Amino acid sequence: MILRSTLVRRPMSRVINKMNKIQNAVAITLLSVIPAMAFSAGNAAEGQNKSTTCHACHGETGKSIMPIYPNLGGQHQDYLSKTLYSFRDGNRKNAIMNGFAANLSDADIEDIAAWYASQQGLTEIKDK
Ligand code: HEC
Repeated sequence: MILRSTLVRRPMSRVINKMNKIQNAVAITLLSVIPAMAFSAGNAAEGQNKSTTCHACHGETGKSIMPIYPNLGGQHQDYLSKTLYSFRDGNRKNAIMNGFAANLSDADIEDIAAWYASQQGLTEIKDK
C-alpha cells in the first residue's frame, strides 16, 4: 500500500516539478524582456541632461534658435531616435550632426529622443 502510493505520487510530483521549471523559465524570460522594453522607451529626464550640447542650436525644449536648425520639440520619438542612429552611423550625412551624434550611445539616443518628443511642438506656422 505504501509502495503503491509512492508510485502514484512520484510521477505527479515530477509533473509539478516540471511545471515549476516551466513557470520559472517563463518568469525569467519576462524579466529579461521587460528591462529591454523600458530601455528602448528612453528616459526623458536623463535626455534633458544629456542634450545640453544640443541646446545651443536646437534649444532646450526643441524650439530651435535659428531657422537653419530644425525644431525637435514634439517630433515623433521613433523619428528622432532613427535619425540620430542614421547620423551616428553615417547613413544620413551632415557635417555638423555626424559630429554631434558620433559619441552618443544607444541609451543616450533613446533618452534624448524621449526628451524632445515629450516637449511641445510648434503650434502655428507663420506667413512671412
Ligand atoms: C551647431 C549646431 C547643432 C548642434 C549643437 C546640434 N545640432 Fe542637430 N542639427 C543641426 C543641423 C544644421 C541639422 C540639419 C541637418 C540636415 O540638414 O541634415 C540638425 C538636425 C538634427 C536632427 C534631424 C531633424 C530632422 O527633422 O530630421 C536631429 C534629430 C538632431 N539634429 C538632433 C541633435 C542632437 C540630439 C544634438 C545634440 C547631441 C544636436 N542635434 C546638436 C545643428 C546642430
